[in-house]
Amino acid sequence: MGKSLEKVKHTFLFCDGGSCRKAGAEQVSRAARLYLRNEELWDEVHTIKTRCNGRCEDAPTCIVEDGHFWYKNLNPEKVVELIKSHCENGEPIEEYLVYAREWEQVRSDNERGTFKIKPFEWKDDPYLGRCQMTKGLSSDQYLHPLFDYLYRNAPSTVYETAQGDQLTFSELTEIRFEKDIELELITENKEIQLVIGPVRKDEPHLEKGKIRNTYYFYRESTGQVGVRFSDKKNELIGHLFLGTSEGNAWSYCTRVQLQNNKLQEVSV
Ligand code: FES
Repeated sequence: MGKSLEKVKHTFLFCDGGSCRKAGAEQVSRAARLYLRNEELWDEVHTIKTRCNGRCEDAPTCIVEDGHFWYKNLNPEKVVELIKSHCENGEPIEEYLVYAREWEQVRSDNERGTFKIKPFEWKDDPYLGRCQMTKGLSSDQYLHPLFDYLYRNAPSTVYETAQGDQLTFSELTEIRFEKDIELELITENKEIQLVIGPVRKDEPHLEKGKIRNTYYFYRESTGQVGVRFSDKKNELIGHLFLGTSEGNAWSYCTRVQLQNNKLQEVSV
């Protein structure tokens, strides 16, 4: 039988992303659930494990709703204090907060600052010759949307593997990202797999093909624009070449993937 939700007053969303797990998130959520069970608060407080909450520098983190309280640097003792404070007094513990609704800014002890994409630079590249290039982001939260956008909007995009195997996006029947690790590009007669999600320790063979570096480029000799993927050692995995008739695709890349960084003095 499912949980009866009408008694729930607070929801604790425990981050179960990689950085939080390394910092002890499992012990935090376990301590919380143990306390809730034995103090008979199970029905009043609902707990959920989430993927990365985007505040890895404050790991382990959790969010308490419905007040929209974000907590930082948790441990098993602190989380029990939090539960007591929310359930008994209906109040957050301010000292443990990294953010609360309507604060003007976060209060982190380890703030890293916002990641900034560097401007495009001219360079001589062994594959592309003279080109402009900049490095984008390589997590699945960027790459899955990139491939999905191109699949839906830019059918003349070509993906070419390091071995020279090619497919054009107009041939795709589907792109799939079901197991959270491999993105599958599927046509009637071939499939190309790209490792874009977090690789687990028990699947080390996937690490070799994992996309760790993503570069956006403009190639001077042909005027082509596209995206390069490489692994941890910066060995080539493949290139996406965007079709010249689909300028919107490049505009999407600069807006959504590159924080509005534009090429130097060329029009695409
Ligand atoms: S892994 Fe927990 S906030 Fe990123």
